[in-house]
Amino acid sequence: MTIFNVGVIGTGMLGSAILKNLDGLSEQSNLNIYCCNRTTEKAIKFTQKSKSIKYCSSLAEIVNNCQYIFLAVNTESALQTTKEIAELASKDFVLLSAEAVTKLEELENCFKGNKALIARIMLNTNISSRGSAIVYTFNKQLRESQFGEHTEKLLSMLGSTTSAKENQLLSYTVIAGCLPSFIYIAVEAVQDAAVCSGLPIDEATDVLLETWLGALSRVKESKKSLNEIKHELYYPNGITIKGIRSLEKEGFRRAIIESYLKML
Ligand SMILES: NC(=O)c1ccc[n+]([C@@H]2O[C@H](COP(=O)([O-])OP(=O)(O)OC[C@H]3O[C@@H](n4cnc5c(N)ncnc54)[C@H](OP(=O)(O)O)[C@@H]3O)[C@@H](O)[C@H]2O)c1
Repeated sequence: MTIFNVGVIGTGMLGSAILKNLDGLSEQSNLNIYCCNRTTEKAIKFTQKSKSIKYCSSLAEIVNNCQYIFLAVNTESALQTTKEIAELASKDFVLLSAEAVTKLEELENCFKGNKALIARIMLNTNISSRGSAIVYTFNKQLRESQFGEHTEKLLSMLGSTTSAKENQLLSYTVIAGCLPSFIYIAVEAVQDAAVCSGLPIDEATDVLLETWLGALSRVKESKKSLNEIKHELYYPNGITIKGIRSLEKEGFRRAIIESYLKML
């Protein structure tokens, strides 16, 4: 059985979510989990809640103990933290950077020509309950190393994975990283409309979420095209097509496309 010694650097929103997921997996007993954070209290609180997560008081402790290190620090700290990690490196480990913009080459340069096994990953905080896709790209050294296969295995333990080219990662950042916030706004807007039309918010939200989840699983499971599925709901001069007409008039589709492209 492969033993994974996994560290998380940065226990903010995303790092905490990764730790929660790892903690849930810890009963598989082939996982040893370590964490550290600039503000130490935030990392210590995890060790108080979970017996499987160990607190590290320094980056050196993480680097010495772990073969897989998730980097979940702020964008401004990512390169500096990677340089510090590189200086501490005395054995092979895989650095999995969740930071959205720093490129593989920039991360590799921190290792000043020394061997560096690096992955960039994109995901969102719903990873805490395996509710996030994980899109990843590996640098050449990791792809060609024995660690590549184990890294894919580790990521697939956390959630559903998709491999991508590095030049696709920014676009995947929008889908895998930012999209949940679009969805929350859309849910809120429907809640507001439902309340305006006289429905109680809790019941309306239950119905809305069931409908939404059902529609999404239909898209995932059906062999029909989206157009065909959509047309099942249409009725000549019916209320669905009238609603769609109004959405199109208000620029719904264009607003989504434009805001997606704005983020690239
Ligand atoms: N949130 C998301 O859904 C999401 C999605 C995709 C990608 N990301 C990426 O993930 C990274 C983290 O995002 P976040 O939302 O979790 O941000 P966050 O809540 O601000 O957390 C960042 C954490 O990193 C810690 N940190 C900063 N420098 C450090 C250092 N040198 N050593 C150890 N810890 C350090 C911070 O410590 P302090 O407590 O001292 O501030 C903070 O706890 C970002 O690069 C972001 O682009 C986030």
